[in-house]
Amino acid sequence: MGVPWHVLAAVLAVTLVITSTVSSSAAEMRKLPEGLKLGVATASFQIEGGWNAADKSPSIWDIYTHMPGKIKDGTDGNDTCKSYEFYQRDIQMLKFLGVDFYRFSISWPRVLPTGFADKISEDGIGYYSRLVDELLANGIEPVVTLYHWDLPQSLQDLGGWANPLIADWFEDYARVLYDALGDRVKTWITLNEPKQFIIYGYGMERFAPNIVSAGIGDYIAVKNALMAHAKAWHLYDKEYREKQKGTCGITIATDFREGLSDTPEDVELGRMVMDFEAGFYSHPIFSSTGGFPERMIKRIAEKSAEQGFPRSRLPELSQEEIDFIKGTSDFYGFNHYSTKFYTADGYTKGMYPIPSYEDDIGAVSSYKDYPPAPIIHATKIPNGIRKALNWVKDNYNNPTVLITENGYGNYGGVDDPERIDYYKAYLDAVLDAIEVDGCNVTTYTAWSLMDNFEWDSGLGAKFGLFEVDFDDEQRTRKAKLSALWYKDFIAQRSLDPDYLPQFEENKF
Ligand code: NOJ
Repeated sequence: MGVPWHVLAAVLAVTLVITSTVSSSAAEMRKLPEGLKLGVATASFQIEGGWNAADKSPSIWDIYTHMPGKIKDGTDGNDTCKSYEFYQRDIQMLKFLGVDFYRFSISWPRVLPTGFADKISEDGIGYYSRLVDELLANGIEPVVTLYHWDLPQSLQDLGGWANPLIADWFEDYARVLYDALGDRVKTWITLNEPKQFIIYGYGMERFAPNIVSAGIGDYIAVKNALMAHAKAWHLYDKEYREKQKGTCGITIATDFREGLSDTPEDVELGRMVMDFEAGFYSHPIFSSTGGFPERMIKRIAEKSAEQGFPRSRLPELSQEEIDFIKGTSDFYGFNHYSTKFYTADGYTKGMYPIPSYEDDIGAVSSYKDYPPAPIIHATKIPNGIRKALNWVKDNYNNPTVLITENGYGNYGGVDDPERIDYYKAYLDAVLDAIEVDGCNVTTYTAWSLMDNFEWDSGLGAKFGLFEVDFDDEQRTRKAKLSALWYKDFIAQRSLDPDYLPQFEENKF
């Protein structure tokens, strides 16, 4: 049946008007998708201080930061932002921003001073319980990470993540928290960034616990961490989900890795490095087959054989373990900061220790010609976040993604337009990933609420929306320009590429 030409012409004209309106307004102002939740994040060791308050025992980071020469600027985490004392001010700052949720983490040695679940600290659990209550009273949803790197030293003395029994210890710890807070906490994150705390902590001197068992101990710890995560998830799934009606998952650092050039060698190398970077932790949980990525299994087996090891340095996962780990996350917790480019050209044996994670990769990396950010791992390459979100979507059947961290670091100042610039560019790419590519992103979290203890870089490296005066006993916080911008972004629920707030002083 023919459609009269004037009807076709009218439809075409209307379509043109609609399309041009949509695309021109998209270039100016982008409305956020309905239901996208916005928040900010911190972690216990980075903000709490009170390192020996009440009956808390030392964590591996307390011990590590007290070793001379470990932290670049010589600072330690003893007091940091004093949030253990001043958490109510943190809540005022969250209210000021207008966030939907606050992601924070729990200090294992503060809640379980022996590391084991024989004795629960009243002070420790009381602190987190008050924090949760007051967040909820202010209309802010708590999103809780069980482990953001501060292991009780008592458990490290038994091998920490290199001891397979840690899966049971972690399950016991998780049970204590589900019991104490699960009536009010509906989003649990088991582990934050396994790569960073394991490869840097058990394969390099860069992080606590300062165990250098490169390419061996770190790989063992990865297997144990996956088992620990899976145990905590199964526990929630079987015993708590029905009554508490929450969700439980893992957060994986999903920075993007790609080949330096378009040659087939570089392209394939990029895929392998992405497996080393993120697939190592996500493939066992989110893929349909489970287990470690094939490219890694093959590469590490070959290198191990060349190096005279009687078996691969990458531990095996039995079929039972593969099945136990597979499917154990209700969402993909996604942290992202930047992108690196890899090529095997110019890689020579001995550039990195043999064996090691980097030598197993066997390539050189760079940020290409992107201008390096003051804190290099937050170099602004916004289309990398879109690629990484698509990598998750394509490899793992488009899971629900919680962006649990994204942010920019520098060396200070409340006047921080470059941080706003980073957020705008990354959020624009996230919106493309959602709207154009169909990625299933439900939350966006800025790292971080305030300047805090940036691990091996110390207090000098700053990722906060609020500045903290570390010389002031009261640890006064001041809203940076970026905090004023994020506040407006949350209120408008749209991304305006031209908007820059006027600076005004807001102290907490
Ligand atoms: C990821 C980590 O989870 C967080 O603790 C750290 O401060 C940020 N990256 C910035 O480096």
